[in-house]
Amino acid sequence: MNASKYIFTILFLVATSSTLFAQQFLPSEFPDRIVLTWSDDPMTTQSVTWRTSPEITDSKAQFILAPNTPIYTDSVETFDAKTEFLDVDSVQANYHSVTFEGLQPATTYAYRVGKEGTWSEWFQFTTAPQKGTPFSFVYFGDAQNNLKSQWSRVIRQAYSNLPKAAFMLHAGDLINRTQSDSEWGEWNYSGSFINAMIPSIATPGNHEYDRAENGTLVLDYHWKKQFTLPENGPKEFSETVYYTDYSDLRMISLNSQEIVLDENSMEIQKVWLGKVLESNTQKWTIITFHHPIYSSGTGRDNKEFREAFKPIFDKYKVDLVLQGHDHSYGRGRNLPSGVANQDPEAQGPVYVVSVSGPKMYNLTFDKWMDRAASNTQLYQIISIEGDLLSYGAYTATGELYDAFDLIKAEGKPKEFIDRADKAIQEAIELTPGSEKKMTPEEMAEYMRTYKKGN
Ligand SMILES: [Fe+2]
Repeated sequence: MNASKYIFTILFLVATSSTLFAQQFLPSEFPDRIVLTWSDDPMTTQSVTWRTSPEITDSKAQFILAPNTPIYTDSVETFDAKTEFLDVDSVQANYHSVTFEGLQPATTYAYRVGKEGTWSEWFQFTTAPQKGTPFSFVYFGDAQNNLKSQWSRVIRQAYSNLPKAAFMLHAGDLINRTQSDSEWGEWNYSGSFINAMIPSIATPGNHEYDRAENGTLVLDYHWKKQFTLPENGPKEFSETVYYTDYSDLRMISLNSQEIVLDENSMEIQKVWLGKVLESNTQKWTIITFHHPIYSSGTGRDNKEFREAFKPIFDKYKVDLVLQGHDHSYGRGRNLPSGVANQDPEAQGPVYVVSVSGPKMYNLTFDKWMDRAASNTQLYQIISIEGDLLSYGAYTATGELYDAFDLIKAEGKPKEFIDRADKAIQEAIELTPGSEKKMTPEEMAEYMRTYKKGN
């Protein structure tokens, strides 16, 4: 082999090795990718979705009020699943779903999915409580990369920290390559039985999208098959634009990939959001989508999105906006970009950008944030109890990284209390390899922004 051929072979092996050795998560007759979501009222319904190999066309779900005794199958109810075939990335599978209905609030049920000979284990879930009941949930920024090797410890740490989470919120880019079945396999592997016990609420990011040959945006085919999400949004954006009411919270998902790339989609979602907020009687309102209104990542700005939607968030006094996309952490309040911000009168949202996976970008020079992080995988726990919303961001090892409270007492302006003084030191180092991506001037500017001006 001559030298150039040898080099070519080496390059070829390096280029293909990640594909050659990507772990496949092929379906079998045994159910996998078992995920809880809501498609309707969390107090009285629970949807579950799972996957099998395509020859299984008659999968079922069984459920029962969770007993203290062992589960005796003569007393369980059995439901036929709705089944949809998916052929993507050379993997053929059937995705099955059932929505349990007529449930009691704040009640624990046991369920399993499959059929005789191939049943899953029995899992348990607890329905949402009545309005006015305290609860907490977990929010994750982009998982996206190295899902099995490095994102898994974050979701598992979050579960150890808050095993009774009401739900887990994913703010887009759950995976990296659209239509990659092995990446969805890794995502499900990492969440494993947690996904079967705690419902997920998910909004898509740019990495869940592709373009068709005619230029239209195409949502990853897995999305609607493996998540059974609410269909109360505009029909064009079914299961990506929706809301769920849980206790005193209205949790809204917008599809920001459609907003930032398509004017018509932006208009449809603006009109829909206005109506959903206008008729909202919930005490607390949180909105999630992928692209940040204020960017925490360097060189990024979604100006048109901000100009179109921020006035709506302000008008309806949205409490919190939970986002991803920038692979860094930023938390700040409702002020124009570029202003170091403390406004006690601000009634608009607190904006958060976070990242749960290991891909990292440097922080923006446009320092709108009161608290930032680079090079840190995080998850957030948000608790709502009456007049109080308390927020904590945690590192992959469970250390408190950021915290604040919002207090909304009857007849008083909303109060914001920064609790970051309880957290560990701010992580603002440049990410590895920055010296190759930045000029010395940019590096100096970064130091000025984050080291002195902080
Ligand atoms: Fe993204």
